[in-house]
Amino acid sequence: MADGNSRAIRGRLLSFSRAPRGAGDAQSYRYIEDGIILVEDGRIEAVGPADELVARVPPMLPVERHADALIMPGFIDPHIHYPQTQVIASYGAQLLEWLEKYTFAEEQKFSDPEHAARHAEFFLDELARNGTTTAVAYCSAHPVSAEALFTAAHRRNMGMIAGNTIMDRNGPPGLVKAAHNAIPASRDLIRRWHGSGRQRYAVTPRFAITSTDEQLKAAGALLEEFPTVLMQTHLAENRSEIATVKRLFPVDPSYTAVYARCGLLGPRSLLGHCIHLDDAEVAMLRDTQSVAVFCPTSNLFIGSGLFNYGRLAAAGVRIALATDVGGGTSYSMLRTAAEAYKVMQLQGQNLPALVAFDLMTRGNAAALGLDSEIGTIAPGAFADIVVLDARATRATAHRMEVARDLEEELFVLMTLGDDRAIRQAFIAGRPALDPAKPRVSRDRLPPG
Ligand code: GUN
Ligand code: ZN
Repeated sequence: MADGNSRAIRGRLLSFSRAPRGAGDAQSYRYIEDGIILVEDGRIEAVGPADELVARVPPMLPVERHADALIMPGFIDPHIHYPQTQVIASYGAQLLEWLEKYTFAEEQKFSDPEHAARHAEFFLDELARNGTTTAVAYCSAHPVSAEALFTAAHRRNMGMIAGNTIMDRNGPPGLVKAAHNAIPASRDLIRRWHGSGRQRYAVTPRFAITSTDEQLKAAGALLEEFPTVLMQTHLAENRSEIATVKRLFPVDPSYTAVYARCGLLGPRSLLGHCIHLDDAEVAMLRDTQSVAVFCPTSNLFIGSGLFNYGRLAAAGVRIALATDVGGGTSYSMLRTAAEAYKVMQLQGQNLPALVAFDLMTRGNAAALGLDSEIGTIAPGAFADIVVLDARATRATAHRMEVARDLEEELFVLMTLGDDRAIRQAFIAGRPALDPAKPRVSRDRLPPG
């Protein structure tokens, strides 16, 4: 019974049931001061107050207690690039130069399956260290890179959504795959991995600049062929990018219209950035129920602009929150929420802690159409769980001395927290972090 995948976790439980309408919306979540989560075969079997559930805990099952921590659904990162873990923190360039100078060079290394496999392990470890239990990842243009990521995630029973980056122009020859290769390679990966264990596929045209019209349309056709597959791309991140799209697609009225015409918009479509959009483009996103993915650390670091959360939310566009490493500067969804707050402050808007934590968990899961499976602490969901310690550092412990309530604790966590606040992460019920291991490891990846 206690095979490592069945367990009871006891402590302060928090899980959202709908998007909070603002600060103080106590109807949007369930908080249990002393609760128990019963995990069986990697899924949540039962959840409730300890005094009600304690009798259901089998006698031999160890109970892990985290009295002072906050136990939440694991974080979900809906936009991250796994071949960019050595691109993060690259100096002094905006989007198109940053791609040419740093990113394309690094991604070419992923033609080597051994390199891809090592980086996949690093990437998944780093997600877990930051409390992220599911991510939507861009791979490189080489099918072996997607194969390596899916293989590593499958072995961990970690739910990943990923796709082979499709591009057939405006990149180095090593990345620009012949148009007739990228689509069959994606189809092959879909057949192999979409729905295999916890893995799912996202058709991944990099952005309009690096695909011909034919390739974008072929990507759209692939989505029709496989209706449960997701789609991820970039949209309206940077002004030079938009000017280039205008030049490459002179007949289309807008950047968003290019994707619409090619069949790339819809409820399973994730569009990174969405910063510089006109009203017609916003309406197109709303009408197609596409998701705009807010990537604040990336938008600030690459100098792309300020995502207008208030405008898009008021227009009825679905919104998700993501890191976008390696344009983004942190794997931590807590750091990401902190920067989202600042981006919104600069526009006279607020991001209440309840809204931020809902986004990182239930909200991002809903953006992926997976909210019955992840992003929630509820019976039947995967036991993807994070244990958060708001007193993990000297500064946060000091600040917490005067915190009055749950919302203030959450705001301290998102404003000051990082990987040090992650005491444990469970992936399908299994602990992903070894508490005995030092947080700052001097281990290096083997040379290569
Ligand atoms: N647009 C096209 N490719 C990329 C990428 O790798 N990162 C970001 N931030 N934007 C992109
Ligand atoms: Zn990106």
